[in-house]
Amino acid sequence: MRLLTFFILASFATVAVSSTKAPAETTPAPGALSELMTRLQLQHAKLWFAGKLSNWGLASDEIQQIDRNLETAGNLLSDRSRLAVTKDRLQAVNEAILQKDGPAFTKAYSALTNDCNGCHRTSGFASITIEVPVRPPVSNQLFVDQLTEGRALAHASCGTCHVVDDAARQTPASRPAAPSFLEIANRPSFSADDLRQFLASSHRRLGPDQAMPNPRLADYQIEAIVAYLETLKAASGR
Ligand code: HEC
Ligand code: HEC
Repeated sequence: MRLLTFFILASFATVAVSSTKAPAETTPAPGALSELMTRLQLQHAKLWFAGKLSNWGLASDEIQQIDRNLETAGNLLSDRSRLAVTKDRLQAVNEAILQKDGPAFTKAYSALTNDCNGCHRTSGFASITIEVPVRPPVSNQLFVDQLTEGRALAHASCGTCHVVDDAARQTPASRPAAPSFLEIANRPSFSADDLRQFLASSHRRLGPDQAMPNPRLADYQIEAIVAYLETLKAASGR
């Protein structure tokens, strides 16, 4: 909806600008468009991995940034009206994200990518060809939704003994049940670092009767569970 409003406002703006302003009035800094496009390139790639990995929150952030960047880019283009098509493509991707619809996302993303190139061709930059990315654009950012992963993992590998989130609906098989995650996260002594260490060790200190087996998690799984427990703490602290 917001995108559509943008589009309508943008078309009005085009009419107003072309009829009143002399073209030389706002000379953009040299290279400004190129810089914006380079940012757009990164956001376009991040959007792909966020959507493919169903991280809809991140995908939505990227869409909004792309939208803002395109708006700014529009002011630097000689023919702003070409943007309307791109905004439609962007709107379709946004729709798929809101619906959390993977196949629709793939299709709409591909149409958006074709449109990047469509504008490049009509602007005299046919040599700049954008593709659906093969590898993540950076190695220092997770594109999966860590919290969703953490919650799923906790249910799958801890839920037999611990109450993972909603105490009323869960009855762990083990008797006596281990402390619930809500309780653990809200202990004054709770710290992410201790939890990391605990999950990577074999828990001898818990004693022979009640010792918890080493869950044998990989580092990224430990991080997902730590993130999940931290939100349990945050949620009840509000
Ligand atoms: C409305 C027109 C238009 C659309 C839509 C558009 N571009 Fe561009 N793009 C341009 C123009 C014009 C240039 C050349 C800028 C220059 O070099 O001055 C460009 C250049 C680029 C460059 C080269 C930047 C550099 O200097 O290295 C990249 C990368 C790029 N665009 C990515 C994208 C991506 C990704 C999309 C789609 C999400 C996209 N563009 C959509 C007009 C557009
Ligand atoms: C086979 C049963 C079992 C499974 C599976 C299990 N736990 Fe436990 N866990 C326990 C028991 C029992 C305790 C309580 C031991 C005690 O306090 O002496 C415990 C305690 C803990 C504690 C508190 C440690 C402390 O310092 O008091 C944490 C944190 C914890 N578990 C996390 C996990 C996580 C995360 C998973 C899944 C990856 C998991 N557990 C899987 C049985 C289990």
